[in-house]
Amino acid sequence: MARLAAAAAVLVVGGSLAECRFQGRPQLTVRRAGFGKSSRGLSGGGDSTGGSGGVGSANVRQLREKAIDSGGSSESRTLPGSKPTYDGPPVAVVGGGLAGLACGLALRRLGVRAAIFDTGKRAPGGRASSKTFKRQGCTHIVDHAAQAFTAQGPEIRALVEEMEQEGVVQQWRGRVGSLSNTGQFTPRDETREGPLWIGSSSTGMAAVPTWLAAEQEVFQDVWVAKLEPVRGAPGAGWVLKTPKGKQLGEGRYSYVVMAHNGKCADRLINTLPEKTVAHAPLRCKFTAKASPTSDRLELSSLWVCILAVPRGSSPASFDGAFVESHAVLSWAGNNSAKYPRPQTGQSDVDVWTLISTAPYGSKNKCSQEFIPPEVRTKVSEEMRNAFCTLLGAPGVADSCEVLHMQLWGAAVPLNVCQQHFVHDAEARVGICGDWLTAPSVEGAMFSGLALADAVARELRGESLPSTPAQPFKSWAGKATGDFGGINARLLASAAVDSALS
Ligand SMILES: *[C@@H]1O[C@H](CO)[C@@H](O)[C@H](O)[C@H]1NC(C)=O
Repeated sequence: MARLAAAAAVLVVGGSLAECRFQGRPQLTVRRAGFGKSSRGLSGGGDSTGGSGGVGSANVRQLREKAIDSGGSSESRTLPGSKPTYDGPPVAVVGGGLAGLACGLALRRLGVRAAIFDTGKRAPGGRASSKTFKRQGCTHIVDHAAQAFTAQGPEIRALVEEMEQEGVVQQWRGRVGSLSNTGQFTPRDETREGPLWIGSSSTGMAAVPTWLAAEQEVFQDVWVAKLEPVRGAPGAGWVLKTPKGKQLGEGRYSYVVMAHNGKCADRLINTLPEKTVAHAPLRCKFTAKASPTSDRLELSSLWVCILAVPRGSSPASFDGAFVESHAVLSWAGNNSAKYPRPQTGQSDVDVWTLISTAPYGSKNKCSQEFIPPEVRTKVSEEMRNAFCTLLGAPGVADSCEVLHMQLWGAAVPLNVCQQHFVHDAEARVGICGDWLTAPSVEGAMFSGLALADAVARELRGESLPSTPAQPFKSWAGKATGDFGGINARLLASAAVDSALS
């Protein structure tokens, strides 16, 4: 959610799931208003950065230059073809993961201006994150959080079709399914479960948030520390402040969308002067195992290990698999098969993404930013050895090289409240995120679309009632990259209607 890899925002949930710690970074703002389609450049980038999502980073750099050229004008230019029909102040979306980005894009298409505030250092995206590794002249594109996604709902399918036409996503036609804890592979049933989607071969999953963000106004590497009501009439709007009390963005916002969770979201919502129904669903706790029902979100950490495996040492019977009932691993995927590139054919290694189980992540939790060397060694060896044993080649472990280890602190929701969004009509604050729908890419985007629909109606004067969150129920899905879909036929506006009734 965040690529932002080591950035303070993290992974796997929302935009900034991370540990909530402001590190005193400069508040660098990047304005993306008016960034047109033609400059999207979604194919072909990606090689230049060793970090998260090359293309996104390149775009942000261009944007930064643009922002400087234009003197950092705070005027939001309107793109041809989009006609704002609501002329009050814009909506502030706090969190640039897939939910926040989908919400911002949908608002824009509904004629409401929105600005996204993201803690990611270089680009938005949250857990939809990719990395580029260069090794002996070969460039490897690696998804190191969300691995693939379904597009079952009609609106998500339509978005995915747009992205497919622009080369941003593609169907995963590889051998994908589940792996027993003894290494037996069972392909998933595509006719029943629908196709799986992945990012572009030049960028990986990070292409998705880059595309969603491309025409939006995104403030990158900013930390929203406080929400202050505009003085005057209730509902007059909100001002967003940095930790140092500096005003963010263009001043007044008509509505605040909380598109992140974790400790920082809880802290931010608590800066509101009045209680709001948005308080409760932002409270969270970290645990390895969900309670059957809970009044708060339960989150778990996951370890991700990026491993270079000597090519040909022990070919696997799969390209990507959820590992069933395993103590250490929940997923193993071969990025070299997923995103083949001209050079990777000559590579002497395949680059795999291994994701731990939630209990293993909790048991081996440590600081995300400063992983103690002994924890890194222990976890990387255990994940690597477990994987080679599953391949039936424990002897290969010693010749594998660990390229990267990452702990995603707030990686995966273990329970969800399944009502898609929260809207506080009085405070004019709402929440979207995968944990309100289904912990998956599709769930995150759907939640964003549903909240956008509610916000647009509210701002146009429909006066919707508030929709407090339902109790949370444990979710039986898999860890990051869950293929589980939401109620496939549901439309965002119907989700809003039923939440209001
Ligand atoms: C990973 O994918 C590459 C490219 O398709 C393939 O050559 C290699 O054998 C795969 N690795 C394993 C361990 O199966």
